[in-house]
Amino acid sequence: QNCILIGAPVDCGKRRQGCLMGPDAYRTAGIAEALTDLGHSVNDLGNLAPADIAVPEPRNPLVHDLKRTVGWTKTLSEAAENAAQTGIPVFLGGDHALAAGTVSGMANHYAKQGKPFFVLWLDAHSDFHTPDTTDSGNLHGTPVGYFTGREGFDAFPPLKNAVPTENICMIGLRSVDPAERAALAEGQTTLVDMRSIDEQGVSGPLSAFLDRVVAANGALHVSLDVDFLDPSVAPGVGTTVPGGATVREAHLIMEMLCDSGLVGSLDLVELNPFLDNRGMTANLMVDLTASLMGRRVFDRPTRSRKS
Ligand code: ARG
Ligand code: MN
Ligand code: MN
Ligand code: MN
Repeated sequence: QNCILIGAPVDCGKRRQGCLMGPDAYRTAGIAEALTDLGHSVNDLGNLAPADIAVPEPRNPLVHDLKRTVGWTKTLSEAAENAAQTGIPVFLGGDHALAAGTVSGMANHYAKQGKPFFVLWLDAHSDFHTPDTTDSGNLHGTPVGYFTGREGFDAFPPLKNAVPTENICMIGLRSVDPAERAALAEGQTTLVDMRSIDEQGVSGPLSAFLDRVVAANGALHVSLDVDFLDPSVAPGVGTTVPGGATVREAHLIMEMLCDSGLVGSLDLVELNPFLDNRGMTANLMVDLTASLMGRRVFDRPTRSRKS
């Protein structure tokens, strides 16, 4: 496959700074080498910059750096739509505000092909706020609200193709705000919280979701937030929540995704190298990307969904 690395040093989605160093931390951790070792071609487009777009004063005075987030949304939406024509875009974040752009761009790409589009959201958080409902003002808590077409994003680029909530599966949830919970209850998003994982593991819920993508002949975007993982193994993130996924659970998800052959794009988000412990989080995220792209201990041909 052709992997297109796109540096997205987005740091405007929250007040604590440092995610702007994420793309270079992934490069330092050897993401390109890991992918070429697996036989893929790699094209690193370098780091992008946000478009310069004028925005009105937000209704909610708490909202932080609306202008830059809107600019990144436009830049990354266009970058995703372009890159998807020639390979698998891998977005090196940057905080999760970047997914407003990457996911909306991928949705536009698949809409042109008439292919149903699905999103797997691996995160402690649902990021389903709108600029009006956020109580932190941090727009990294809003990208799912944007790309599902919730109201309140009028300062943002108009959404051409909303992702239906029934096409989204969130795994790893353990920090969901009341306003998000209420809004999620009105949609059809598949919600796999940490209790579900404790009770059933990750493979059952993931298989069920992948079966739905296959049945629809759809394509899948994966958005991997560092804080999906337990802070003990992934400390390099500003929004740690105890009780997260283990290294093995995360690798199992990645290997199952690889077997499915469904993944067309990937976000690696919220890595804050300033908070990391000698690169351990960056290295783990690169190893997970390698599992998603084919790294194996032994092959299991009978599990493959590729035709
Ligand atoms: N729900 C909280 C908020 O809105 C936390 C969001 C964390 N999001 C993230 N991408 N880390 O502020
Ligand atoms: Mn900021
Ligand atoms: Mn997130
Ligand atoms: Mn999160």
